[in-house]
Amino acid sequence: MDVKKRSSTTPRQFATSGTMMVRPLLLKPQWMNGLSERLLVSHYENNYGGAVRRLNAIRAHLATLDWARTPAFEINGLKREELIAASSVILHEIYFDSLGGHGDNPPSGLEQPPAGLAQALERDFGSVTAWRSEFTSMAKALAGGSGWVILAWSECLGRLINQWAADYAHNLPGATPILALDMYEHAYHLDFGARAAAYVDQVMANLNWDRIGARYRLAIGEGADENKFFLPYGAPAQEEARISAEELKTALESDDNRRPLLLDLCLPRDLPRRTDMLAGAAMHAPGALSRWVEELPREQPIVIYCICGFQVSGTAVTELRRRGYDARALIGGITAWHAIGGTTVSLDTSTYEGTS
Ligand SMILES: [Fe+2]
Repeated sequence: MDVKKRSSTTPRQFATSGTMMVRPLLLKPQWMNGLSERLLVSHYENNYGGAVRRLNAIRAHLATLDWARTPAFEINGLKREELIAASSVILHEIYFDSLGGHGDNPPSGLEQPPAGLAQALERDFGSVTAWRSEFTSMAKALAGGSGWVILAWSECLGRLINQWAADYAHNLPGATPILALDMYEHAYHLDFGARAAAYVDQVMANLNWDRIGARYRLAIGEGADENKFFLPYGAPAQEEARISAEELKTALESDDNRRPLLLDLCLPRDLPRRTDMLAGAAMHAPGALSRWVEELPREQPIVIYCICGFQVSGTAVTELRRRGYDARALIGGITAWHAIGGTTVSLDTSTYEGTS
């Protein structure tokens, strides 16, 4: 089955028969305000990543079906599960894209909706405050249960709506989600226990209004140059300087001489956050680039990864390409690798500058 290349820089989804590619985190999980890295990464890798893997497995199975001979109960079950998995992928991507407003380093700017979205919220709810009150009250009303609360643009209704969703497949037909708040217990229990209302307030304190505003402009057809909002901070701007986790997995499984060399870059302060690495990778300090760069082969492709694929790998790839190396940064870092179910080995810091 072909891997359908999905742009990692746009919020749009592709409805294809090919494999869905995992989307990188745009938030920095270690810098969020009152939402722990452990919670966010577990949610991303296990629940979102699990939905992507499940959707791909269902689609692969559907591609093998003899539809005319398949029992109705099997068709019904598979298509129901496909719908649930696809909706979970889409809603989780919108949820994670929408976070990162205050905890980012550097800060991501807007603390309130941008002007166009603010005017639309005022038009459709009376005020931004009234919208926020309705949205958060709906979310808190789901405490003890599960579901989603979604701010969506409905072309048919001609307005923004706050939509209640009892599960992943419960959506207003034709409406485009702008902001999605996950009220499943896995989204908050690690940090908040049963205090779902506190979780709702903390999510609202971490919204990235730049990206939510960009998604609204795309939904109403007024988007222009919005892609810049959906690229991990510090990732190389050129697409040819990036590689997806799925593409890397395919490249590592090949036995030809174009198998990439793997470099694991980690800031000294981030070493305590690490427990594993990709098999065969050599770990280096980005600040010691001038010491390890000259030993790299010029005839072999190089893939550099860091924790989430922000500026640690992005800056190094830019510098290596400037020096003429065939280097690419892993989109989403080892976190995205985990999300696709990629295997790892225990962390080996023997090549890390300053530790040996
Ligand atoms: Fe979730």
